[in-house]
Amino acid sequence: MRSTFVVGCASCVALVACSEPSRLPSAEATVTATAPTSTAATPLDRVDRTTSIDRSDPTQVARDQMVAHDIAARGVTDARVLAAMRAVPRHRFVLPEMEERAHDDRPLPIGHRQTISQPFIVAFMTESVRPRPTDRALDIGTGSGYHAAVLSRLVARVDSMDIVCPLADQAKARLADLGYDNVEVTCGNGWAGKPERAPFDVIIVAAAPEVVPQALLDQLAPGGRLIIPVGPQTFEGQELKLIEKATDGTLTERVILAVRFVPMTGRPTE
Ligand SMILES: C[S@@+](CC[C@H](N)C(=O)[O-])C[C@H]1O[C@@H](n2cnc3c(N)ncnc32)[C@H](O)[C@@H]1O
Repeated sequence: MRSTFVVGCASCVALVACSEPSRLPSAEATVTATAPTSTAATPLDRVDRTTSIDRSDPTQVARDQMVAHDIAARGVTDARVLAAMRAVPRHRFVLPEMEERAHDDRPLPIGHRQTISQPFIVAFMTESVRPRPTDRALDIGTGSGYHAAVLSRLVARVDSMDIVCPLADQAKARLADLGYDNVEVTCGNGWAGKPERAPFDVIIVAAAPEVVPQALLDQLAPGGRLIIPVGPQTFEGQELKLIEKATDGTLTERVILAVRFVPMTGRPTE
């Protein structure tokens, strides 16, 4: 049986069909389940000892619950990723009128017909690229800047770009305001990547092209990991692909989830 997840896609609340039923829970669990304490306790306890957490902050409590119920309990186990998801103030990346919904496991509108992705898919994509502290990362589809902020806590440097310039500008100001000084946001077309900063150890794409942009494959470092939703804007959605480049340059590709993202706009040659 295929299971479904709400995922971050622009201009709509979409469903993601799960292609890994053994790893991921059912749609019903996505919406309603409360994680058994034992399931969430191990990774979260490990994180608690390595971070300074202000438990008097109600948004911190909300993020703890978000991570326990919607992320750790659903198969994301990387302690660094869980810590980053608990640390980044997600409510600061949504519209003021959406703050109360900031920790729901669903995408939310951020203006310009775009959305901030749901927390689970951000954590799942981030864990899948196995970020390391020395990595250089490229984030295509800045949106609110939330995913860039999460990533920035796990790698050395993040270059993030969005084709919608007002979103890129807002995200840049927001990230600076919050002190994320290892992220550089630019307005630009992700089809071209950022050759002047390449190669990248990690590339995360949050909008779906119908084919993998050649520039992104070219800009992936040996040993690098690229995660990208690929496919048409049909009801069935797209495949979330994890592409890895071996040290000899050989590319391998694995489909790890069925998803539905908004299209990657712009043109390959722009
Ligand atoms: C689902 S949203 C990304 C959410 C974002 N990662 C966040 O944390 O808020 C997809 C984003 O991809 C952007 N986008 C679409 N096509 C693009 C392209 N060719 N180059 C760069 N960004 C693009 C959209 O403008 C939109 O902001």
